[in-house]
Amino acid sequence: MTTYSNLPENSKCLVTGAAGFVGSHLSRRLLGGGCRVTGLDCFTDYYNRRLKERNIRDLLENPAFDLIRADLADLENDWFDGVEYVFHQSAQAGVRASWGEEFSHYTRHNVLATQRLLEWARRTKLKRFVYASSSSVYGNTGKLPMHEDDLPRPLSPYGVTKLAAEHLCNLYHQNFRVPTVSLRYFTVYGPGQRPDMAFHRFIKAILNGDQLVIYGTGEQTRDFTFIGDIVEANLKAATTGHVEGRVYNIGGGTRISVNGVLEILKELSGKPFKVRYEPVQAGDPPHTYADTTRVRNELEFMPETSLQKGLAIMLDSFREVD
Ligand SMILES: NC(=O)c1ccc[n+]([C@@H]2O[C@H](COP(=O)([O-])OP(=O)(O)OC[C@H]3O[C@@H](n4cnc5c(N)ncnc54)[C@H](O)[C@@H]3O)[C@@H](O)[C@H]2O)c1
Repeated sequence: MTTYSNLPENSKCLVTGAAGFVGSHLSRRLLGGGCRVTGLDCFTDYYNRRLKERNIRDLLENPAFDLIRADLADLENDWFDGVEYVFHQSAQAGVRASWGEEFSHYTRHNVLATQRLLEWARRTKLKRFVYASSSSVYGNTGKLPMHEDDLPRPLSPYGVTKLAAEHLCNLYHQNFRVPTVSLRYFTVYGPGQRPDMAFHRFIKAILNGDQLVIYGTGEQTRDFTFIGDIVEANLKAATTGHVEGRVYNIGGGTRISVNGVLEILKELSGKPFKVRYEPVQAGDPPHTYADTTRVRNELEFMPETSLQKGLAIMLDSFREVD
């Protein structure tokens, strides 16, 4: 079992992407643990801004939280004075949208913005710099579970940019001792999940009585990770000694097919629904599954929330809002 970690009281943290799904949960947890948090977000229009404003509504009422509404790629030197811990969550997310014209958003928000932040970080005395990487860096490794030392071969332009930023973190650690740690998140879910992501779309459709759309046969498998576990992994990465420069898989510990998830949702919601199967989308890996040996041994991190429990929490959160 994971023991909960806290940063020292009053630590000054920066959370980039603070209005997003992961960033808002993480900011809330840090504030709850007695930290001061500077959030940064430029409210990209990848999905409805109103959802992001809702994510941070309660945070804005907390005197220990302040928000910079700006693009990280335009970083100015005095924005983050006094920051000790960085949690770099901002990115242009989404695998399927990363082809074509939109790619310039991916290079700006994922690669250039990370490089700007690392340039600032090399001139600052930071205690830790945690980077939100992704299982998308692996692509189709040809073997499961996926291990941190496997050769990454991303299948999507998104995965390429997340891997490029991870390499930048490694470079700034090796050359300038920026204390980076990269966490490769495996599909994150929970209340506030991005509206383009599968569970959000499924639950919304079920509650509205609409047909569900699955890309592929539904037999593709994923390692789904509950948001609360992702947040705790970030705290472990920030507080564990001697792990600078390391890369860790953060998975939920269960590998299940999308059709298997639908069975659970049918049971939890008590509602029948119809499913339409569409062709597989370019960039979607057939399977993901995290080898979590390293993170268990080095960060003493274990996910705590089962898929059943996490989906029930997510379903309840939709019922509260709707
Ligand atoms: N959600 C997942 O399943 C998942 C899986 C693997 C990795 N990740 C990574 O986790 C992080 C958080 O993902 P999320 O699902 O919360 O996404 P999200 O889109 O909800 O949050 C990202 C936030 O970053 C902001 N942002 C983007 N570019 C910015 C910039 N240049 N300057 C300032 N703000 C900027 C956006 O406005 C958004 O609010 C991302 O780095 C993503 O790549 C997420």
